[in-house]
Amino acid sequence: MNAGPAMNALPAIGDATAIGDAPTTKVVPGATPLLRVRGLSVALPDFSAPRGLLGLSRAPLRPILQGVDMELSCGECLGLVGESGSGKTTLGRALLRLVAPTAGRIEFDGRDIAHETEAAMRPLRARMQMIFQDPLSSLNPRRTVGDAVVQPLRAYGRLGTRDEARRAAAMLLEQVALPAAFASRYPHELSGGQRQRVGIARAIALSPDLVVADEIVSGLDVSTQATILLLLRELRARLGLAIVFITHDLSVVRVLCDRIAVMREGRIVEQGTTADVFAAPRDHYTRELLDAVPLPDVERGWLDPLATAA
Ligand SMILES: Nc1ncnc2c1ncn2[C@@H]1O[C@H](COP(=O)(O)OP(=O)(O)OP(=O)(O)O)[C@@H](O)[C@H]1O
Ligand SMILES: [Mg+2]
Repeated sequence: MNAGPAMNALPAIGDATAIGDAPTTKVVPGATPLLRVRGLSVALPDFSAPRGLLGLSRAPLRPILQGVDMELSCGECLGLVGESGSGKTTLGRALLRLVAPTAGRIEFDGRDIAHETEAAMRPLRARMQMIFQDPLSSLNPRRTVGDAVVQPLRAYGRLGTRDEARRAAAMLLEQVALPAAFASRYPHELSGGQRQRVGIARAIALSPDLVVADEIVSGLDVSTQATILLLLRELRARLGLAIVFITHDLSVVRVLCDRIAVMREGRIVEQGTTADVFAAPRDHYTRELLDAVPLPDVERGWLDPLATAA
């Protein structure tokens, strides 16, 4: 693999260019939407359904997503909400082609990727990343934090020498406000919030256009949640990231997201600007969802730093 001038091109903090010798494929803000989804459906095996004789036949498929339409502009943050089992994670995974669609189009930067081969997807995968709720499950316990954050660069052949790897790790840790010395630690030696920062550092290593963040602060205490959300918002502004932010927590959506999409039973039942949906929810299910959440955290003020930094 060509490591090229790699780390000579290391961006300074605050520079939104890609790390290493990656081709700069950043989409132009204001051009085609980054994502345009039409009629997206996903069906997955239903293992609870009665099977054929001796259970030898394949499990029947159950519709999980049905006819989803959505758009996301460059640098935009979309909050994806809905009750448990409504299909938020499945949609997030389908957008990144981690789940195969059964029907519909997923246009990423103007190109339909719904049925692209894995080989054709590979260069695109560098531009779309997922951050998971539990970074421990996505981090190899035997790999240091430094190895973990540069692993995407290595996978795409963008690292050469050990020195380049060390400098890239330090820079990525700095981007998420972790000391460079953390590079030699192991995941279990970090707090939950620090681990989530490592998850974020990995996700931004290839300078993606799109990040799907699935319940990434759900397991954290409220003050740590606020610091992670502030970091995400800062990175979004600095790197021009578009974010699909999946959450149960409507108080977070309110301060973090430009637009909101509400899911129910595999469909998007309402979408609009966050301000409009909160002020005048059109769908009765959205009203129920908003009524069910007293937004106590906003009242307690833990999100104040986010609200005032808006
Ligand atoms: N790999 C899978 N195989 C079969 N069915 C699945 C699979 N993953 C999810 N499902 C089903 O798809 C539906 C939607 O699940 P999904 O995880 O997308 O919901 P969610 O909105 O993210 O829920 P939560 O808020 O609890 O995370 C559920 O009924 C679930 O059982
Ligand atoms: Mg989920």
